[in-house]
Amino acid sequence: MAKLLQTDVVVLGAGAAGMFCAIEAARRGRRVLLLDHAAAPGEKIRISGGGRCNFTNLSTAPERFLSENPRFALSALRRFTPANFIARVDAAGIAWHEKTLGQLFCDGSARQIIDMLLRDMAAAGVDLRLGVTLDSLTRTATGFALQTSAGAWDAASVVVATGGKSIPKMGASGLGYRLAEQFGLPLVETRPGLVPLTFGGALLDRMRDLAGISVTAQVTAGAGSFAEGLLFTHRGLSGPSILQASSYWREGGSLTIDLAQGRDVAAALKAQRQSGGKMAVRTALARLLPEQLARQLEAGQGLTDSHLADLSNASIDRLANGVHRWQVVPTGSEGYRTAEVTLGGVATLGLDARTLQARAVPGLFFIGEVVDVTGWLGGYNFQWAWSSGWAAGQVA
Ligand code: FDA
Repeated sequence: MAKLLQTDVVVLGAGAAGMFCAIEAARRGRRVLLLDHAAAPGEKIRISGGGRCNFTNLSTAPERFLSENPRFALSALRRFTPANFIARVDAAGIAWHEKTLGQLFCDGSARQIIDMLLRDMAAAGVDLRLGVTLDSLTRTATGFALQTSAGAWDAASVVVATGGKSIPKMGASGLGYRLAEQFGLPLVETRPGLVPLTFGGALLDRMRDLAGISVTAQVTAGAGSFAEGLLFTHRGLSGPSILQASSYWREGGSLTIDLAQGRDVAAALKAQRQSGGKMAVRTALARLLPEQLARQLEAGQGLTDSHLADLSNASIDRLANGVHRWQVVPTGSEGYRTAEVTLGGVATLGLDARTLQARAVPGLFFIGEVVDVTGWLGGYNFQWAWSSGWAAGQVA
C-alpha cells in the first residue's frame, strides 16, 4: 500500500475559488495541497470575459445573485469585497478598465490573473498537482483520508472547489455534488444559467432570417428583467440580456421582450404619420429598429406594403405592442455545453455563511460555483469565487 502523506488542507479544484482559498490558507501557515484533474489550472479564467477576464463588478451585492437564500452570500462578499480583489490586482501591476455596468476587465489578458494566482500560490508554498483524480474521500478520527491517482493523503480539512457542470470540455465533472451527497448535504437542483435560449418551428425559421442582428432589448423572465444587447442566432436568441434572463427562465415559461427598449414606438409612428403619412410602415419602423426586423414585424401584423396613413391609432398601438411586448416561449437552452454557469448546487442551508464549512461535517468546505450561489453576468461569479475562497481560506 502506498505511503500515507500528511497535509493540513486539501483543496479539490484549481479554479478561481480553489486557487484563492489555497493562497489564503497557505498564508496562514497551513500546508496546502491543491489537486485538479485538468492539465492546467484556471482554465475558465483563461477563456473568461472574451479572454480579458471580467474579474469583478463594482455593484456586487446579494441582489445580483440567484440562490434559494441570496442573503447567504452577504457575509463572504462583505468580508472580501471587489475593492479587496482590485487591491490584489493593482499590487500585481495588472492594468484594468471598467467596461460597462461596473464590470472590470484586464486591459491585457486573462492570463495575467492566472499568473498572479500562480505566483501567490508559489510564494505561499501551495503544493499544486495537476492531472490528479480523486478515487475516494472518507472521514477519519482526525479529519479526512483521500485516495488519489497521485497517492494517499490525510488532511484535517478538505475544501471542495470543483465548480459546476458548465463546459465539460473545460474540466467540469459534477464531483462536488457527488461529494455533497456522500456526506449527506442537501442539494438544490442544478440547471444551466447564463445560456443562449433555443426556439423551434416557424418562430425559429423567422429568427434564422434575422441571425446576426442585434438590438438593445429589455428581456423579462420571471423575476429577472434586463436591458442589454440581444442577438438573433441560427438557433434562437443570445446576447447579454438573454443570457441574464436565462438564469430566471424555467422550461415551458415565456419571455417578454421589448425590442425597442427606451423608445416609444407608438408615439414615434403617430408623429411620423402626422408629418409624412405616405411613408411605408416598414420604412418608419426601420428608423427605430434594424430593417430586416422591421420588415418581419410589419409582415407579422399583416401590414406588408402598408403606409402609415392607412393605419388607425389602434393598429399602430397593436404594432407597437408587438415591438414592446413580444412574447415568446423558448423550446430550451443550449445547455451545459455553452452555459457560463450552473444554477443550484450545494444548498446554502447545509453550510455556514461565514466559513462555507458544512454544518454537519466539520472540516469540509464548499466554495465557488459548486454552491447554490450564482451571479448575474458581469464579474459577479468571479467575485463570489474570490470571496467564498477567501472566507474558507481563513479557517480551513
Ligand atoms: P471553476 O469551474 O473555475 O474551477 C473548478 C476546477 O475544478 C476546474 O479547474 C476543474 O478542472 C476542477 N475539477 C472539476 N472536477 C474535478 C474532479 N473530478 N477532480 C479534480 N478536479 C476537478 N464569470 C465572471 O465573473 N466573469 C467572467 O468574465 C466570466 N466569463 C466566463 C466565460 C465562460 C465561457 C464561462 C464558461 C464562464 C465564465 N464565468 C465568468 C463564470 C466563471 O468562470 C465561474 O463562475 C468560475 O470559474 C467559478 O469558479 P470555481 O473555482 O468555483 O469553478
